[in-house]
Amino acid sequence: MDRVAALLLDWYDGHARSLPWRVRDGARPDPYRVWLSEVMLQQTTTAAVAPYFAKFTETWPTVEALAAAPEEEVMAAWAGLGYYSRARNLVKCAKQVVEMGGFPEAEAELRELPGLGDYTAAAIAAIAFGQRAVVIDANVERVVARLFAIEDPLPGARRLIRAHADRITPDERAGDFAQAMMDLGATICTARSASCLLCPVQGLCEGRASGDPLRLPVKAEK
Ligand code: ADE
Repeated sequence: MDRVAALLLDWYDGHARSLPWRVRDGARPDPYRVWLSEVMLQQTTTAAVAPYFAKFTETWPTVEALAAAPEEEVMAAWAGLGYYSRARNLVKCAKQVVEMGGFPEAEAELRELPGLGDYTAAAIAAIAFGQRAVVIDANVERVVARLFAIEDPLPGARRLIRAHADRITPDERAGDFAQAMMDLGATICTARSASCLLCPVQGLCEGRASGDPLRLPVKAEK
């Protein structure tokens, strides 16, 4: 296993954020809860999502329950979260999943479901099904750009960032690894600050070695 991955997984074991959709102690995550949380977390913070996630899982504890819900009720429960196409796709997707007899496990099949893009499909494959998938959101993008001191500007740098992320993604525990990268980006390696002294991979980070990790990732001038 890549050293970055090994260090991050160790760190995650002790420092994972306690979030309502996460499970502890290697329990098997419920794909329904993983899917629901990842859709809610598209463009929305963990703090804003938490109460909605609680309300949804109480009202509709299974994908079958959500698939049977009247769309107006789901839209009303979603009110305040924004990006309402996500809520419409949610019901559509739930119905499709029930017809299929459950969530597919393969990233490519997940990507075909309504409302799921590259990020969400990879996140569900890795977190819910333990598949090795390369999960890249804005936090992961920033962490990778800093770790490997990627000087090419975004968005052009995305190919290179993906290649590095792919290389360090472990075969085992890809879901924990992805969530460790997200937690690192949300708490230690943020857009505004880099608390390198707290970082489990500080010794391997080329951005830190360069003296100015905050300049990364470089953004193309508009
Ligand atoms: N943002 C999106 N998905 C997340 C997850 N599973 N953990 C933490 N932050 C996230």
